[in-house]
Amino acid sequence: MKISAVVLAAGKGVRMCSELPKVAHKAAGKPMILHIIDIVRQAGIEDINVVVGHGREVVQQLLAQEKVNFVLQEQQLGTGHALLQADKNIDPDSTVIVLTGDTPLLRSSTIRELINFHQQQKSPGTILSAELSNPAGYGRVIRQADQSFSRIVEEKDATEAERQIREINSGIYCFQAGKVFELLKKINTNNAQGEYYLTDVLELIKDTKQTVNIIKVEDAQEIYGVNDRIQLAYVESILRKRKNLELMREGVTIMDPSSTFIDKDVRVKKDSIILPYTIIEGSTLIGENCQIGPYSRISNSHIGDNVIIDSSRVNEARIGNQCSIGPFAYLRPQSELHDNVKVGDFAEIKKSIIGEHSKIPHLSYVGDAIIGKGVNVGAGTITCNYDGRNKHQTIIEDQAFIGSNTNLVAPVKVGENATIGAGSTIAHDVPPDSLSVERAKQKNFQNWANKNR
Ligand code: UD1
Ligand code: CA
Repeated sequence: MKISAVVLAAGKGVRMCSELPKVAHKAAGKPMILHIIDIVRQAGIEDINVVVGHGREVVQQLLAQEKVNFVLQEQQLGTGHALLQADKNIDPDSTVIVLTGDTPLLRSSTIRELINFHQQQKSPGTILSAELSNPAGYGRVIRQADQSFSRIVEEKDATEAERQIREINSGIYCFQAGKVFELLKKINTNNAQGEYYLTDVLELIKDTKQTVNIIKVEDAQEIYGVNDRIQLAYVESILRKRKNLELMREGVTIMDPSSTFIDKDVRVKKDSIILPYTIIEGSTLIGENCQIGPYSRISNSHIGDNVIIDSSRVNEARIGNQCSIGPFAYLRPQSELHDNVKVGDFAEIKKSIIGEHSKIPHLSYVGDAIIGKGVNVGAGTITCNYDGRNKHQTIIEDQAFIGSNTNLVAPVKVGENATIGAGSTIAHDVPPDSLSVERAKQKNFQNWANKNR
C-alpha cells in the first residue's frame, strides 16, 4: 500500500526566541528539518510532504535539493489545520504518517515499526506514545478502563489528575488517509489554545466505534521534541554521542568522545584515530589510518588514507594519501593536495593544486597556484596573487626549488627544475633548469664596528 509522509513544520517556535523558523535550527551540523527528511527516507518512504508557513522561504530553501512536496499553511491555526492542508496531495487509499519537524532523535526503525503495526491492525489511526518521567508540556494519552484509547488531552486543557499521567503523545501518528482527512474537517477550536488540534481526530475515530491503536516507543528519548535552545543543546549532545558510538563500532578510535564533535553525515574509515578537541563537519570524508587532531577543524573536505592533520583548519579541501598537515596549517577552499604532500606550520593554501611529494613546510602563503611534483617551497615564500583588483596565477613546475623568503609576483611561472635564490622577488617567468636570483648585491664594510662605536 502506498505510504505518504506529512511533516508539520509551519510553526514559529516562539520559545527559540529566533528570527529563524525552529526547524531550520541546526543540531549536529544539520537543520532539524533535514534530519527528519533523512529519517523518513531511510524508513523507505519516498512521498514526503512538508507543511510550511512561518519562515517558509528559509525552510523551502533548506529543502531545495530534496525531492519533497511543499504544502502551504498560511496561518498557523493548529496541528489539525496544518495536516488538513495536505489533503489534496494525498491519495485517500494510502497510509499517511504524520511527523513534526522538531524531533531529530527519532529513528527510522521506529517509523517502520509504527507503519507495520498500523497496517497489520488495519485500524484508521495509530499513535506513537512514550512513557516519560517528566511529561510536562506534552499531550497526555488517556486510556479507558480496559486500557484502550480514550483521548489525548493537551497539558493546557488537562485536569490536575490528568497531568499526573506519564504516557504522552509523541505527535507522530499513522492514519488511513481518507479517514483522517474526512474527520479533520469536523474538528473545532473549543480548547484552551483556540487551535484546531490534530489530536481531536483520534477521539472522532473512537466515536465512530473504530479502534485507535497505541504503540509505545521503547527508547523515550527518540520522541524528544525541541522547543527551546536548551532542548536543542540536549538533542545535539545525544546526536553527537550516537555518531561517536557509530564510528567507534566501525573501527575508528576516538580518544576522548566528550571533546570530539563529528557531524552526522561525516564518514571516517577504519583505523583512523581522532584526537581530542577536534571538530569534523558537513560532508567530510576521512580515509583509513589517518590521525586527526588534536585541535583541528575540518569542514566539507575529502581526506585520503594515512594522512596526519595536527592542530589545523581544513575547509573545503581535498587531501591525497600519506599527506602531513600542520601543526597550525590553514587549508582553504579549492585546495587540492596530491599524495605525499607536506604542508607544515603557519602555511596557508588557497585554491591551489599541489603535486605529489611537494613540500610547503613553513610560514608560507600559496594562493591561486599550480605546483608540480617534488617541489620544495622554502620557508616564508609568498605568492603575491592579488594586485588590488584581480587575482593572478602562479605556476611552479616539477622539481623546482623555491628558496626561503621568495615573493612570487603573479602571474608568473617557474620552470621545471629551476632554482630561486633565497630572498628573491620574482616578477618574470623563470626558464626550466635555471637559477634565478633577484636581490641587491651584499656589501660588507670592513672595520665598521670599531669606527662607529
Ligand atoms: C503537539 C501535540 C501534543 C504532543 C506534542 C508532541 C497537538 C494539539 N498536540 O503539541 O499532544 O504531545 O505535539 O511534541 O497536536 N505546526 C504547524 N502548524 C500549526 C501548528 C503547529 O505546522 O498551525 C507544527 C509545528 O511547526 C510543529 C508541530 O506542528 O512542528 C507541533 O506543533 P507544536 O505547537 O509544537 O505542538 P505541541 O504544542 O508541542
Ligand atoms: Ca512541540
